[in-house]
Amino acid sequence: MKAIILAGGSGSRLYPLTRVSSKQLQAVYDKPMIYYPLTVLMAAGIKDICLISTAEDLPRFQQLLGDGSPWGIAINYRVQLRPEGIAQCFLIAEDFIGDDNVVLMLGDNIFSGGDNFPRALEQFKSGAAIFAYHVKDPERYGVVEFDREGNALSLQEKPEKPRSSYAVPGVYIYDSNVVEIARDTRPSPRGELEITDVNLEYMRRGQLRVHRLSRGFAWLDAGTSSALQEASAYIEAIERRQGIKIGCPEEAALVRGFLTLDRFEALVDQMPGCEYRSYLSGVADEARRFEGLK
Ligand code: G1P
Repeated sequence: MKAIILAGGSGSRLYPLTRVSSKQLQAVYDKPMIYYPLTVLMAAGIKDICLISTAEDLPRFQQLLGDGSPWGIAINYRVQLRPEGIAQCFLIAEDFIGDDNVVLMLGDNIFSGGDNFPRALEQFKSGAAIFAYHVKDPERYGVVEFDREGNALSLQEKPEKPRSSYAVPGVYIYDSNVVEIARDTRPSPRGELEITDVNLEYMRRGQLRVHRLSRGFAWLDAGTSSALQEASAYIEAIERRQGIKIGCPEEAALVRGFLTLDRFEALVDQMPGCEYRSYLSGVADEARRFEGLK
């Protein structure tokens, strides 16, 4: 399984925060936003990732994340020249996808809690899988109606009158047919290749599964300054309460065995003295103690 992270767009709703820095590089409490989706993918065992952004912002992501090798993963980069829709990413990353299944993760979606996502990945065989999350304001999102067996019944993009209270978060699982389906999709009235149109095609083929995200699961969006502030407050509250960080790629790499403990400790040694480093040192100490017990 491979993954694409789409970190494009102009972030106009966050102006002037986004005048010189991409939306997905903004701080969500103590980390850049992009760390969160990246860590979700790594924690689910995905090592082969393609990050897509604008020509202007891509170098900043490369500076931050490099080729991924220090974390035991591979990060490729591709440019989206114009904001022509989420589904365009499959055409941009066609050679990266090849014959593999692929997860698409939007770089401004923050998820926390539960094992819904890794479980859905394990179950995935072919077709497409999306998630459904109960929200108060479904009209702001893609909206899905589904039956007890998890079959999609209807899908609408930002409908005025939503048919359900279940929004479709920005994480999707597809087989490699997604490239051909995206290619056959026509731009919507707003001039974009819509991800909802791709999902509708899978639905027409009877190949769209819907996984309902459980109650304890948090899906936060960081599209406006107040949503960004709320996401930061949420992450801070959980991290302070539990003494466990959300969205640490280094920790996910260690837990998944992408890195040995020695390599993990060498990474931590390179960090400046800061709370992030102290946390990861604690993770290393705990892992050493656990090794001693074995
Ligand atoms: C996009 C999708 C929408 C989905 C949302 C999740 O919306 O079009 O279906 O629910 O991401 O974040 P946009 O970010 O373009 O408003």
